[in-house]
Amino acid sequence: MAKSKTRCAGLLTAGGDCPGLNAAIRGVGKAATELGIEIVGIYDGFTGLVEKRARLMGPEDFSGILATGGTILGTSREKAHAMTLASGQVVDMTAAAVENYRRLHLDCLVCLGGNGTQRNAWQLAEKGGINVMTLPKTIDNDVVETDITFGYDTALAIATEAIDRLHSTAESHHRLMVVQLMGNRSGWLALGAGIAGGADVILIPEIPYDLDCVADSIIRRDRSGKRFSIIAVAEGVHPRLVEEAKGRRGGKKGHDLPPATELPSVSDSPDAADVGGRIAAALEERTGLEARVTVLGHVQRGGPPTARDRLLATRLGTKAAELLAKGEYGVMVAVRGEDCVPVPLPKVAGKRRTIPLDDPLIAAARSIGTCLGDE
Ligand code: F6P
Repeated sequence: MAKSKTRCAGLLTAGGDCPGLNAAIRGVGKAATELGIEIVGIYDGFTGLVEKRARLMGPEDFSGILATGGTILGTSREKAHAMTLASGQVVDMTAAAVENYRRLHLDCLVCLGGNGTQRNAWQLAEKGGINVMTLPKTIDNDVVETDITFGYDTALAIATEAIDRLHSTAESHHRLMVVQLMGNRSGWLALGAGIAGGADVILIPEIPYDLDCVADSIIRRDRSGKRFSIIAVAEGVHPRLVEEAKGRRGGKKGHDLPPATELPSVSDSPDAADVGGRIAAALEERTGLEARVTVLGHVQRGGPPTARDRLLATRLGTKAAELLAKGEYGVMVAVRGEDCVPVPLPKVAGKRRTIPLDDPLIAAARSIGTCLGDE
């Protein structure tokens, strides 16, 4: 076997946790160990690197974690170039991160994260002159250049089951059931679970909604004898008028995120926390039907990963180890069909994958009469 170009790699998980992170840690760790690469686990994302909270991991660390949710390394949303200190001050800690990278004798830093992490890792690599590699994880499925992210399938299954369960109680009480889903500024989770769970209305950030259209579709259903409706609402939705006023358009592939500034997670906004509640109240008023709201929240991110996410995380993790051995740095390991391939990080960093308006899922939803809020 050719000598590995990486002797020692750091491994961290950053951003919101998701099912499959431990399976990925296991995949990287076990395969790297086989290739003679040491893995240093870094705690709580980029914060752990800045604070040098890290330790050498061994085979025992990579055992018994395949089916567990969360991340054994802990995570945080902090980034080296703009870290919030205990005092509340936001400081550029890139130099400290790089110094610790060197002190830990790392040849590469492997970062498991969503689109914020792709950007933060690449920024650290560029500014600090260090080697990084990333894996795409998130329940939002909003990372560009990869067919799918791990964590999404599990969240999809949880949200679909929740919508399934809402059907019987909605039907019994002849109610509108508004179910609010995560997904940040992309609608993959709401659209996927909405279709899989048979929601009658699905509202996603890519299609600004018009409450009159939604109310009309519910009234038509009611008059046809279907005296209940399930309305799946993505947390990042916007009403049509606000969207038009801002001159935004949904549906482009891989929207650029604003440079320098980083959009906070939608869930940080009190408006988003209650978007389902506001839509339910407005629909109640317009239709005269009683409405109830269910906010699925972090339940969507909890618990064991599905078999599909375990497979995905294992494929990505083992491919990462293979690329480490080759010394192929500065890449995100992406899923392309049956393959896992390295994609240069500059193609990924700072982008968000939203649903294109011509996506087959949108067409399928419309074909079965699902109201998407615009007609
Ligand atoms: O990115 C994953 C995600 O769960 C989003 O869907 C959601 O907007 C956000 O994280 C919630 O973040 P937090 O756990 O920090 O409240």
